[in-house]
Amino acid sequence: MQTHKLYINGEWVSTAEQQEVLNKYTQEPYAKVAKASEKEVDIAIEAAAEAYKERQMPPYQRFEILKRVSELLQEKKEDLAENITLEAGKPLKQALTEIDRATQTFELAAEEAKRIHGEGVPVEAAPGSENRMAFTIKVPIGVVGAISPFNFPVNLVAHKIAPAIAAGNAVVLKPASKTPISALKLAELFGEAGLPKGFLNVVVGSGSTVGNQMMEDARINLYTFTGSAEVGLKLKQNTGLNKLILELGNNSPVIIDKEADLDTAAKNVAAKSYAFAGQICISVQRIYVHEEVQEEFQQKFINAIQSLNVGDPNESNTDVGPMISEDEAKRAEEWVEGAKNEGAHILYGGERDGALLQPTVLTEVNHEMKVVCEEVFAPVVSILPFSDLKSCIQDVNSSPYGLQGGIFTQNIDTAFYAAENVEVGGLMVNDSSQYRVDLMPYGGVKNSGWGKEGPKYAIDEMTEERLIVMNLNQ
Ligand code: SIN
Repeated sequence: MQTHKLYINGEWVSTAEQQEVLNKYTQEPYAKVAKASEKEVDIAIEAAAEAYKERQMPPYQRFEILKRVSELLQEKKEDLAENITLEAGKPLKQALTEIDRATQTFELAAEEAKRIHGEGVPVEAAPGSENRMAFTIKVPIGVVGAISPFNFPVNLVAHKIAPAIAAGNAVVLKPASKTPISALKLAELFGEAGLPKGFLNVVVGSGSTVGNQMMEDARINLYTFTGSAEVGLKLKQNTGLNKLILELGNNSPVIIDKEADLDTAAKNVAAKSYAFAGQICISVQRIYVHEEVQEEFQQKFINAIQSLNVGDPNESNTDVGPMISEDEAKRAEEWVEGAKNEGAHILYGGERDGALLQPTVLTEVNHEMKVVCEEVFAPVVSILPFSDLKSCIQDVNSSPYGLQGGIFTQNIDTAFYAAENVEVGGLMVNDSSQYRVDLMPYGGVKNSGWGKEGPKYAIDEMTEERLIVMNLNQ
């Protein structure tokens, strides 16, 4: 069995308590990981605060370190991807894509490290300020407390630590307790790339212990969190006037207009509803189909789902693997059963074997059913027919969430109408909600979040703008 230690102040640290990490396909433990107590969390936060205070890293050094980490990710791609498949149950080909994306995330953050700048402020335009000159500089915010989810154990850690380091901050990271090994492997790469000690600290443990302790620690200046709206709200309510970046849930909508290319839409939506068993915040969940094309779309959609390979995530051609745990799969199955009891029809799937839930399609649903109005975070989609685009978009917007959405249409006016009216952080035209490349601004409206990710945008959040005014009168 593998063993892993915590990474604190540039050292590997053993702890009294350990936790097991399960292979999510077999549900057997394959590793033991050190579990942080209050003491280790305290030492990690102090190490970050000291590193930030004592040692300024110039931008070119941050660039070199982040660039090296991105190179190391490619050198260790197979090992890192295989670990994602073990600890998260993510199909291997999607895990390999995740490493390629993380490589880009670090590269983009490296490049951005050299572009952090303020701007001139023309204060001399104000009467009485003729002899003044002003500009702003961007300074790091200090200690970043990062809490990452299980669904992208490498790339969503990258989206937190890469911009934080690029901006000159120090980080304390609590990775998801179901998938902590990827984060520890990333810390190893930072050590190899020459990151000075204290700038990255990884503490493993649950949200109710490590997470709560981080939330209450005044040495942390900014929190960056991806996870449920419930925990996001708790962080917002308990971190005083600290800055926050919150990437929360969604019940992502995709609209299939009557003028859509149905072949493209069906294949695209099938792939993007069920990738990583639907456990992606922007996975398609609500499919609004124009009633004139509903039958045809449904047929093509089912055909596309039937061509997906479901099963062992270690196989190179698997598209849909297990969910993160059997409990989660049971929870999703109960939601499907609940919808069925309220009148929904299971058009496809619905069967569960342990943590593996078959790709599932529901029809005859309504907006009160949990599978529609809450975030299902499972391989379950619902089809909702519509006849009028305006009222369809009102239904889309009735969700408390608004991360990303999609519309398939060949009509430019329809596309623009949707762009102006769908309440989301990002709208994909002729694509599903589940599109993300790592340079784009990523973040939602309403209960989907607060602030933006993507290195350039996260660096903005993770720096303070300081105004300098020179009085040239003297
Ligand atoms: C998420 O689940 O919010 C992340 C999606 C992605 O990075 O592709």
